[in-house]
Amino acid sequence: MKNILEIKDLFYKVKDKEILKNINLEIEAGQYITFIGPSGSGKSTLMRIIASMITATSGEIIFDGKSLSSYDPTTYRQRVSYAFQQPTLFGKTVKDNLEFPFLVRGEEFDSKKTISALEMVNLDESYIDKSVNDISGGEKQRIALLRNLLFRPEILITDEVTTGLDTENKEIVHKMLTRFNEEENMTVLRVTHDESEIENSAKKITIKDGEIV
Ligand SMILES: Nc1ncnc2c1ncn2[C@@H]1O[C@H](COP(=O)(O)OP(=O)(O)OP(=O)(O)O)[C@@H](O)[C@H]1O
Ligand SMILES: [Mg+2]
Repeated sequence: MKNILEIKDLFYKVKDKEILKNINLEIEAGQYITFIGPSGSGKSTLMRIIASMITATSGEIIFDGKSLSSYDPTTYRQRVSYAFQQPTLFGKTVKDNLEFPFLVRGEEFDSKKTISALEMVNLDESYIDKSVNDISGGEKQRIALLRNLLFRPEILITDEVTTGLDTENKEIVHKMLTRFNEEENMTVLRVTHDESEIENSAKKITIKDGEIV
């Protein structure tokens, strides 16, 4: 299998504090990897570096055979998509959020595609015109995740995206991500503290004090 992502000798420092130390990783296309480790150990920082939202202090990231720094950031973020820990919706309505992935690609909003995406996460078309202030936290989380998934990335990074969802909706999100992973070979990097998610992970990577252990 080919490596979709390689991380070599990566460090991340803020002032004198080493937040990530000597990270080396090889990830094959189509893997589903769960990142675990104590709060503050550096998981989100590593994910934000992989997603090109912040830049490592030193080291190298190779995505699809080329250095991350050689990609145009906007194009890169369509291929490697980060679903935030504690997402926020922007604008006024759910549509403002779900229209965004179309707009950045220069496409017209496709309501049919959007409705079927909403249905994947147990929501329906009535949500499109709802105000972002009138929906629950768990609904917000699922809508935010659809921003990452309306157009499938090659790597999806989920940072504790099921925290706060009830069992039924957690299960819906798991099934959806597993389906895209298995049927479309989407690589998934998942950060979680959820016991049952950790238990059900085939491949786990632990980060402790900024290092892979
Ligand atoms: N820009 C920054 N400046 C200073 N410290 C930072 C910065 N970004 C992250 N940190 C620190 O780096 C450490 C790792 O943070 P990170 O958010 O990566 O942890 P985490 O493993 O995702 O934790 P959690 O499980 O609580 O989400 C923390 O101690 C955090 O305070
Ligand atoms: Mg985090």
